[in-house]
Amino acid sequence: MRVLLALERLESGVDFNPLSSELRANPLPQYEKLRRKDPVHRMRTSDGWILTRYEDIDMVLRDHRRFGNLGRDFGYLPYISMLDLDPPEHTKVRGLVAHGFTLRAVNSLEPRIAKMVDELLDEVAGKPRFDLIQDIAFPLPITVIAELLGVPPEDRDQFREWSEVVALDVDPLLDSQQIQDLQRTVEELFDYLEKIAEDRRRRPRNDLVTALVNAEEDGERLSREDLLINIVLVLVAGNETTRNLIGNGTLALLRNPDQLERLRDDSSLLDSAIDEMLRYDSPVQLDSRIARESVEIGGKRIEPDQRILCALGAANHDPEVFPDPERFDVGRAPRNHLSFGRGIHYCLGAPLAKLEARVVFAGLLSRFESFRLVEEPRYRDQITLRGLEELWLEPE
Ligand code: HEM
Repeated sequence: MRVLLALERLESGVDFNPLSSELRANPLPQYEKLRRKDPVHRMRTSDGWILTRYEDIDMVLRDHRRFGNLGRDFGYLPYISMLDLDPPEHTKVRGLVAHGFTLRAVNSLEPRIAKMVDELLDEVAGKPRFDLIQDIAFPLPITVIAELLGVPPEDRDQFREWSEVVALDVDPLLDSQQIQDLQRTVEELFDYLEKIAEDRRRRPRNDLVTALVNAEEDGERLSREDLLINIVLVLVAGNETTRNLIGNGTLALLRNPDQLERLRDDSSLLDSAIDEMLRYDSPVQLDSRIARESVEIGGKRIEPDQRILCALGAANHDPEVFPDPERFDVGRAPRNHLSFGRGIHYCLGAPLAKLEARVVFAGLLSRFESFRLVEEPRYRDQITLRGLEELWLEPE
């Protein structure tokens, strides 16, 4: 590892060490250095490339013909969800899942989400201090998605465990124990979800599993495995990510009290503030693609089948696109951030994640005159997803 990193540094003047604790604590200084010195950077440790410029990442994510998704060759699982498929399979599966995931279905959840947030805030309101992650940012998305899918919310602690293991699937570096845990967990989830799908076939309800079981386009249905792995995707894709948006966004507000006050004074800035939170401390930091042909980017030749890491968090701090990127500005309205990806894989759950965040921040601002950080929070030890372990707050 050391030798490879030394070689990498010698070639480009900079290296990218995915295992370094500084990177996991805060990737931005590393990304900034890469963007300045070698924006199309050849990694030696994992035989691939990492991109840090907005323009390059935007191009790669839009061009799904030359840059495909990981497919079967790279994953840890024998099943692949739409996230890893290319057209035409991707188009078919996404179309079918999107059927059950319409904007109308999402918007109709607003009153339920508002009630859930109210109840969660009621529970913390009387306490001298609370952990925003454990008490609000974790239970909300998992309960919402359980309701949308139609799986019993009482099972949410079990979902949390499953979801955390399955979320590892997006991490480019897993050890063999983690891979085994991941594979076992997906089999357990399949058994669990299959019973629910079977029940909805016999007794349809107004939920997403029923919509997916019945989804049909041009006479095509989802196969058993496609159905189950895409339910797993929907079940896990929105949990840790939305939790990270709520946690990282709250921390950004606390670290920038003038912006917190600005938002408190003018709630019409809420949508802009949520986009700024997504840009400023992105819940998903890395997105992967595979070069399908030999391509030149920024004067570097990328060969077919080489892996490309797109550092979304770095693109979101590219000063060419976002002036003064380290400034957290709730009025910036950076709608072009890349936190939900771009192109055909653009996040299917983006409207839901934003809706949940809007309801939570509106609730926090109206319930508490002010709150302060009890202790310095720590980020979880991951590189693809970025979020806080705990966030202890003291209402004042
Ligand atoms: C703040 C919260 C969220 C963030 C930052 C986020 C981020 C992303 C990103 C970056 C992608 C694109 C991956 C790629 O290009 O390969 C993606 C895809 C996806 N997301 Fe999200 N997501 C969030 C919430 C959600 C929620 C709430 C759901 C569903 C309940 C969801 C479901 C999906 C699905 C199904 C895809 C795959 C789309 C496809 O491959 O066509 N996400 N998300």
